[in-house]
Amino acid sequence: MNVQGKHWRTIWPGADGESVEIIDQTRLPHEFATARLTTLDEAAHAIRAMLVRGAPLIGATAAYGLWLALRADASDAGLRHAHTTLLATRPTAINLRWALDRALELLQPLPAATRATAAQRLAARICDEDVAINRGIGEAGLTILRALAARKPAGQPLNILTHCNAGWLATVDWGTATAPIYLAHDDGLKVHVWVDETRPRNQGASLTAWELLNHGVPHTVIVDNAGGHLMQHGQVDLVIVGTDRTTADGDVCNKIGTYLKALAARDNGVPFYVALPSPSIDWTVRDGVREIPIEERTPAEVTHLTGRTAGGALATIRVTPEGSPAANPAFDVTPARLITGLITERGVAPATAAGLRELFPDRPAGS
Ligand code: MRU
Repeated sequence: MNVQGKHWRTIWPGADGESVEIIDQTRLPHEFATARLTTLDEAAHAIRAMLVRGAPLIGATAAYGLWLALRADASDAGLRHAHTTLLATRPTAINLRWALDRALELLQPLPAATRATAAQRLAARICDEDVAINRGIGEAGLTILRALAARKPAGQPLNILTHCNAGWLATVDWGTATAPIYLAHDDGLKVHVWVDETRPRNQGASLTAWELLNHGVPHTVIVDNAGGHLMQHGQVDLVIVGTDRTTADGDVCNKIGTYLKALAARDNGVPFYVALPSPSIDWTVRDGVREIPIEERTPAEVTHLTGRTAGGALATIRVTPEGSPAANPAFDVTPARLITGLITERGVAPATAAGLRELFPDRPAGS
């Protein structure tokens, strides 16, 4: 997507043929910087420390991480070590396991000498597939946005609320929840996005707002607790969020706070959609609340905030009393019954086992 008029993906092979490059998301929105990854450890660090984040991009980075690892050691032990190391970086987004297992299945039977090249090709393919999947989600979601916009009084924008960053920064390109929004905006549909700030890491305030700003999409950043109030006053026409893992029965695990938005949406009759790329479906899990591992992150993300001072420097400040403990569960699960529909690259499905099976009778390769 666009950064000051130039097209970027979030991850791309380095021109030297020996590295992979990424946008360092820990520096946004204050600084646009790229980083070069050359080893397994650098790739694992980039995922763990959230230089890259968002379920689809985590999967794509892991695939490239495996390639970097195999350049150094393509033995069976090297492959197993790389798989285990990358899998341990973040526990919730299923795209990580999806990409790594797909790579393992392809690479294990190959002679060691050919593994690195095959891994590199697979990583590039996973990236291209992600772009196509998100474009498909965009087209399926655009139909929904057009239908809802047609019910609005002439000249009124369609108000969409989104949580966290399920934009192009969370994927290779387009984003999932944002893909229909970008297509609608580019098509001349009048849209306005309510951007949840998404404490504690502020992916909404820092990343979604930055993306929308760069693309020229009208938007307003709100605190996480404002959504229910706006819905009560008719100021939200629909909610679209992403997903880190969706169960075979349609429960959706996404950034902490998503569940509360779904409850408020249900109470106010606001449609609640989830943009779901098929690699985010975990076909092995049915009950999201009981079965999906929820990442517990450092309390420092809750007790402290980082931002830019009036003088232009970056500063981190404490916002809680010294000595007050903090907890930081990073994701929650929205039960399928609260979800209006799952927007996939193959069309929109009801959030049910039957709905998902009908769209994916074949369970796409590697899932
Ligand atoms: O902790 P993060 O920033 O990796 O969490 C990201 C999200 O929760 C996104 O909404 C989700 O991955 C969907 S991205 C298309």
